[in-house]
This record gives sequence, structure tokens and C-alpha cells, in this order.
Amino acid sequence: MNPHAGRGLQDGGGGGDKWPGEAGFRAGRRAFPATRMRRLRTPAAMRELVAETRLEVSDLVAPLFVRDGIDSPAEIGSMPGYVQHTVDSAVAECKHLASLAVPAVIVFGVPASGRKDPEGTTAFDPEGITQRAIGAVREALGESLVVMADLCIDEYTDHGHCGVLDPSGTVDNDATLEIYAKVAVSQARSGAHVVAPSGMMDGQVRAVREALDAAGFAMTAILSYAAKYASALYGPFRDAVDVTIAPGARRGYQQDWRNAREALAEVALDVAEGADLVMVKPALAYLDVIDRVASRSAVPVGAYHVSGEYAMVKAAAEQGWIDGPAVMMEHLTAIKRAGARFVVTYAAREVAEFLAAGHPRG
Ligand code: PBG
Repeated sequence: MNPHAGRGLQDGGGGGDKWPGEAGFRAGRRAFPATRMRRLRTPAAMRELVAETRLEVSDLVAPLFVRDGIDSPAEIGSMPGYVQHTVDSAVAECKHLASLAVPAVIVFGVPASGRKDPEGTTAFDPEGITQRAIGAVREALGESLVVMADLCIDEYTDHGHCGVLDPSGTVDNDATLEIYAKVAVSQARSGAHVVAPSGMMDGQVRAVREALDAAGFAMTAILSYAAKYASALYGPFRDAVDVTIAPGARRGYQQDWRNAREALAEVALDVAEGADLVMVKPALAYLDVIDRVASRSAVPVGAYHVSGEYAMVKAAAEQGWIDGPAVMMEHLTAIKRAGARFVVTYAAREVAEFLAAGHPRG
């Protein structure tokens, strides 16, 4: 059964929307006025006692953008409060995150302008920005932070696609796998604990696992972006990694957001190919997918709360239309309630600081 507390009422097995034991529950419990649901809603300590889901700092993974060729952090206009780091500022940020007990970061490298090419070769350059950033963070933090590396080439290709193109301009799946294999080994060699293939190529997990094992990195884990949708919510991320690509251009490899059942096939294939962790992306509009995947997956399931989800909350909060931290807590807790064991979110640091300051979770 699904290990997530509080999901039990729906997950009794095969009952559709019915609660298991619903008849007995009804028979044994008297209706109003004997039953008053409000009794468990005060005082605040009572709500803490009965809360089914708790967002913890240990649930959070913080993305880090590290850019080559800048000498101080550069703000990302479409992601208020978020920056492209230098290697040094990335290390400082990681120390701060570790001091807050955030368990993991995921590194995205952004090559210097003019260094992009059709094959994205800087993605597997031993002296590439991602490799240097991973190395520096590992050197400074040792084993006190899990270092993940996004494994894709869209940040490194001049056309912005997640793979290499064939003569007709279509992403060539199998040729791309050979590049992903090289990127994985180079990220593992620089110290990544986890590599995270995010390009939605068929067979990418198998290709990466085989390459890692052949190069002696049997202990490097794979987090697969298994169910990744062709979402318009990645808009602000394109500014964060300096990628320009037409909206909808990834529909040939990322999933159609009208499909949920297909996500189960994606996850099953990735687990069979050797994924140690799987992820659903984006998160909030896909809570049903997270729920279904979490109740069936043999491996831990994460969710990626993406740039657009973050930016929408920030933008509305800046206007004074919503209470930003409260909405962020509500959204991230909902993602956990749906079944995610961990959440990759640009709000990781601020949520960790918010909780460290003693703010209530609910
Ligand atoms: C691919 C990748 C993307 C994101 C994470 N990894 C972009 C894409 O698939 O188009 C998006 C993350 C976000 O929007 O926060 N390297």
C-alpha cells in the first residue's frame, strides 16, 4: 500500500471513490448533532495532532542555476528572488541550504554565451560549468548535501532542443542517448550523487545506467523525470538557462498533458530500465498523476514544482493579491498530500527559512 499517511481513505484498494469499510463507518457513527467535525479543528495544537500531511524541510530539493562567464550572481527577471549563480555563490548558497537542513540540490549549468553548439558538447566537457560547480559544491560540502545534476542538453545546444537533430530537424532519439551517456559519466566523475535525465528520450535511463556502470559509477543513482509533460509552465525556466525555443516545440518528446494513464507506462519503463527515483513534472496541475504514480511506483516518487508555478505565486504576491508564503505552503503541502515523497522547488530556501522561523505548517 501507499506509504503516505492520510491517503489511506482513498487507497483501500479497488473501491473507486468509496472508503473501505464505509458501510461500517456509517453504521457505527451517529450523525449530527452527535458528530461535530469541528471538534478536531481547535485549538491549533489539535490540528497539529490530527494533520495527515506535514511539509518538512527534508522534503525539499533546491534547483541551482550556475552560469559560466559571470562574476556576480545575475537576477532572473521572470523568477523573482532567484538568480543565476557563479560557482562561488552556488557554494555559498549550498552551505546556507545545508545549514537549514535542506537535503538536496539539483544543478543546472548555463554555458557562457557563444559556447553553445548543435551537439551540446559543453554538457560533457570535464571543465564545463556544470562539472566545475558540482566539483566545488562536493569539495565544500562533502556528504552533507545530496548533489543531483540535471541531465539534458537543451541548455548547451544552439537550437535549444533536448537532443541532437537529424537532417529533417527532428530530435534523433538514439543518437541523443549516446550523448546522454557521456554527460552522465562526466557528471558522476565530477561528484554528482544523482544524475537526473530530463530529456524524455526513450531508453534514456537504460543508456545512462549502462554507461555509469561501465565507467565504474555503479553507486551513482538515477532520478528519472519519468512523466514530464510538454507544459507551458516552463516559460520562466527558459530565461534562467538562456534557452530560446518556440512554445510547443517539445511536443514530439514530452508528454501530452491530456494523458494520465500514459504516465504510468513511462514510470514502469523507467523503473524497469533502472531508475532509482522517478519524478512527475509539473506538479500542481498534475496532482492526479502524482497520486496514481505514487500508489503504484516501486521507487520513491518526486514532483517538480516548476518555474511557472513559482512565478505565478510570486507575481500575485507582489501585487498584494495573495499571501505568497501561505499560498506556497498550501501548494507544496498539496503536492506532498497527493503522494510526492519529495518536491523540487524554487521555494525550497524560503520555505526552509519560513519553517525555521517557527511559522505554522498549516
Ligand atoms: C530540461 C529541463 C527543463 C526544466 C527542467 N529540466 C525545461 C524543459 O523541459 O523545457 C524545466 C524546469 C522549470 O520550468 O522549472 N533540461
